[in-house]
Amino acid sequence: MRSTHYAIELKGISKQFPRAKQPSVNKTDLKIEKGSFVTILGASGCGKTTLLKMVNRLYEPSTGTLFINGEDVTTISPTVLRRKMGYVIQQTGLFQHMTIEQNVATVPKILGWNKQKIDERINRLLELVGLRPEDYRKRYPRQLSGGQQQRVGIARAMAADPSILLMDEPFGAIDAINRSVLQDEFLRIQKKLHKTILFVTHDIIEALKLGDKVIIMNSGVIQQFDTPLNILRHPANDFVKNLVHADDLFQRMHFIKARDVMNRSLSTVPSDDAVPEMHEATNLKDILLMLLTSSYDHVRIKNTKNELVGQITLNEIRQA
Ligand SMILES: Nc1ncnc2c1ncn2[C@@H]1O[C@H](COP(=O)(O)OP(=O)(O)O)[C@@H](O)[C@H]1O
Ligand SMILES: [Mg+2]
Repeated sequence: MRSTHYAIELKGISKQFPRAKQPSVNKTDLKIEKGSFVTILGASGCGKTTLLKMVNRLYEPSTGTLFINGEDVTTISPTVLRRKMGYVIQQTGLFQHMTIEQNVATVPKILGWNKQKIDERINRLLELVGLRPEDYRKRYPRQLSGGQQQRVGIARAMAADPSILLMDEPFGAIDAINRSVLQDEFLRIQKKLHKTILFVTHDIIEALKLGDKVIIMNSGVIQQFDTPLNILRHPANDFVKNLVHADDLFQRMHFIKARDVMNRSLSTVPSDDAVPEMHEATNLKDILLMLLTSSYDHVRIKNTKNELVGQITLNEIRQA
């Protein structure tokens, strides 16, 4: 028996499409632990989608072996495999002619769940993604905003309670404000559910904010697979350094103070005592590092008199 320690394991995986000059994914080894949230960051065309699609066998690798929970995927039928994995893509892929409840029920119906179980599951999932079942179950996708459709896409992907979620730029088409809300809610959901998540994005802040670990890809090759903090602090090579602007962005952040960018409305500051507090003269670089290492999505800012004067989330840092 192989060890079942890793949720996903790639060994020497390559994918070369017919007539392509070079492989889209090149001799890749990767081990992803159960319950971890891994983001894949890289420019368009670097092989992110190809890598993801090999995990659920939408594409077959040209070489190499892929294990899911210790099992060689070629021994599992693609249909069975895909039911074990949720898959969310950018344009949601919702069935337009079906209601929200029918969309979410797709896989449970295939699996032959009884009506009551499916019914309860739909309600639970819609609540989980912040859509009131009584308001949304009977609507059609076009009657929802892009962000709401994406929530349904996530609910549908989780319908049969897969242990693995594959997400390909799921928030890519959502405007910045709603994207940020979705990211926060998705992090909250993940804290409850502990899925193994592979999440493709080309948004650096999104990759650093969501991932326990981040994969940085270029030309079909993984450049670094590490925690957000290590990627910012110790980029593995010049490519990673340039991508995360380790030089430039970090330098600039050094010169921006908390008080210059903080949100001064204190009404939204919750009364959780453990939220980190930092001085208003702290530079943004230190605040970013604090946000990435604490489990909080914001820090509170104090002035010299020790009075709370504002708060900073990744949003403020992004806008700065
Ligand atoms: N089905 C396909 N047939 C041929 N080439 C493909 C196919 N899918 C992707 N490619 C090529 O593989 C490379 C990586 O593509 P992709 O994985 O979609 O990149 P990303 O998701 O990072 O933007 C690109 O050069 C792309 O043109
Ligand atoms: Mg892609």
